[in-house]
Amino acid sequence: MRNSLVIIGAGGHGRVVHDAAVASDWNVIGFLDDTKEIGYKVNGVPIIGGISVIKQSSFLPESDFVIALGDQLSRRNISSQVLELGRRLAIVAHPSCIISPYAKIGNGTVLVGGCIVNANASIGSFCILNTASTIDHDGILASGVQISPGVNLAGWVYCGEDAYIGTGAAILPNVRIGARAIVGAGSVVIRDVPDDAIVAGNPARRLRPSPTRPKSQRI
Ligand SMILES: CC(C)(COP(=O)(O)OP(=O)(O)OC[C@H]1O[C@@H](n2cnc3c(N)ncnc32)[C@H](O)[C@@H]1OP(=O)(O)O)[C@@H](O)C(=O)NCCC(=O)NCCS
Repeated sequence: MRNSLVIIGAGGHGRVVHDAAVASDWNVIGFLDDTKEIGYKVNGVPIIGGISVIKQSSFLPESDFVIALGDQLSRRNISSQVLELGRRLAIVAHPSCIISPYAKIGNGTVLVGGCIVNANASIGSFCILNTASTIDHDGILASGVQISPGVNLAGWVYCGEDAYIGTGAAILPNVRIGARAIVGAGSVVIRDVPDDAIVAGNPARRLRPSPTRPKSQRI
């Protein structure tokens, strides 16, 4: 069995991360979640505290952590806190994923069931590769990128920090998706997307700029 693991966030994504962690032999000892009572069990795993307990140096000093929050900014902030506190962020990859031995995966990144990461792709820290998504050869994901279920990135695609790709989207080869950009569900992206833009449709066109991430739960 691998090391003990604490999952931060016990919502829908947290339960998915728990499944992936158990299947890949992590010893999941609990969730941290500010919205649920200590002792309450989520799929058999107890809530063992709120998120702020990570600041206590005596709190499970040997455990790894993974941030299971879909919200991009929260995931980035809490991942940064964990690292600043000298704690380890785990890579959790469901065993059904196919990951090239020539691909790189950053700490804190989660790969849910059925993902494929092909040769020489580089995935940054605390990204989410959701169910059955594919990153083809030489793709680059900066930190915090979220790839929704069923997304396909062709070869040499680049996604900037905290970019969000909605479910079922397809990105053509060599396309560059800007930092914090949002690609709508089902879109076909044929040209570069600027930082902070929201694009959708086939071919994907700009809906409007998003200086702050609006309606964050909607994505
Ligand atoms: C693109 C997206 C972020 C836009 O959300 P929004 O800013 O709230 O946009 P609205 O719902 O107000 O729609 C604005 C316009 O864009 C269109 N639109 C929205 N999403 C679209 C999509 N995915 N494809 C095509 N057009 C879309 C709407 O029809 C609307 O057009 P109109 O002005 O002509 O009526 C959102 O629709 C989306 O696709 N999110 C991805 C969700 C997802 O994949 N979640 C996965 C969770 S694991």
